[in-house]
Amino acid sequence: MPAYRPPHIASKEITPKSAYLSRRSLMAASAGGALATLFGPGAAMAEALKTIPSAYKVDDKLTPKKDVTSYNNFYEFGLDKADPAALSGDFKPRPWTVVVDGMVAKPQRFDIDALIKEFPVEERVYRMRCVEAWSMVIPWDGFPLAALLDKVEPLGSAKYVAFETVVRPAEMPGQKGLFQSLPWPYVEGLRLDEARHPLTLLAVGLYGETLPSQNGAPIRLVVPWKYGFKGIKSIVRITLTDKQPVNTWQAANPQEYGFYANVNPAVDHPRWSQASERRIGESGFFGAGRHPTLPFNGYADEVASLYSGMDLKANF
Ligand code: MTE
Repeated sequence: MPAYRPPHIASKEITPKSAYLSRRSLMAASAGGALATLFGPGAAMAEALKTIPSAYKVDDKLTPKKDVTSYNNFYEFGLDKADPAALSGDFKPRPWTVVVDGMVAKPQRFDIDALIKEFPVEERVYRMRCVEAWSMVIPWDGFPLAALLDKVEPLGSAKYVAFETVVRPAEMPGQKGLFQSLPWPYVEGLRLDEARHPLTLLAVGLYGETLPSQNGAPIRLVVPWKYGFKGIKSIVRITLTDKQPVNTWQAANPQEYGFYANVNPAVDHPRWSQASERRIGESGFFGAGRHPTLPFNGYADEVASLYSGMDLKANF
């Protein structure tokens, strides 16, 4: 996997990985130090470091890269956790176009590399909590979805954002054959205020490298206070709408999966408890590796106000 580098940044401007990894712990210790970055001290990044609050980086130990890139859910490549890494060799994440359309003043098609060039890529260290009760801590590289939405100018009538994954049976073995695990394309949705929240990220890399196919190359959604299934991968279309979008898992099993999917230790999955989670990459002996699940995955201070007055049990 080549080192991830946006095409507009010269290699001499990139902080060596050893330096940025050690800076990560340094920044974790500093009071306002919110964000480790791939880039050298450019003016834009200096500005970002000043303005981005500490919620953008959690201090939990990072999940090893080998686990982040080998234990995956990406049913388009198969149902086993190892399938996406093993069976995505034919997948071609470039060239790639993302269409942004629907209730916007300026619908547009974006080439992935033009997008990466246009929006400064930041590192965000987020917890990821899968609805299956395992979790990871991942250093993503990406840009806020809000930046892309601003570009297309949503109309006042737009209330939701719908997302769609690519359909390519020739490259995605889980989309081929008689038995299909899910209907394709995989689809997801957010309320517009959730989509515009500064924590909501479009990731194009992880661990400072280009996003691997198994993690949703070339561009995937990351909404850290929601269960991982909201993080739709390999996005080709983003549509602004006034109707609450259907999402794949809610459509497949509405008793078990909802539209909101906010991480909530007080609302169990019908088949298992959501009170705690298994942190991938940590030893499982004598309870180690088990963490209590936090409301909104630990991001309550930032996002709980989005749901004030709402019944979180009914809107699971
Ligand atoms: N996106 C698509 N298109 N297809 C999928 O099967 N799985 C979801 C989500 N996005 C999925 C998807 C689920 S259930 C989870 S937990 C996360 O991706 C897993 O992301 P990761 O493999 O990068 O950890």
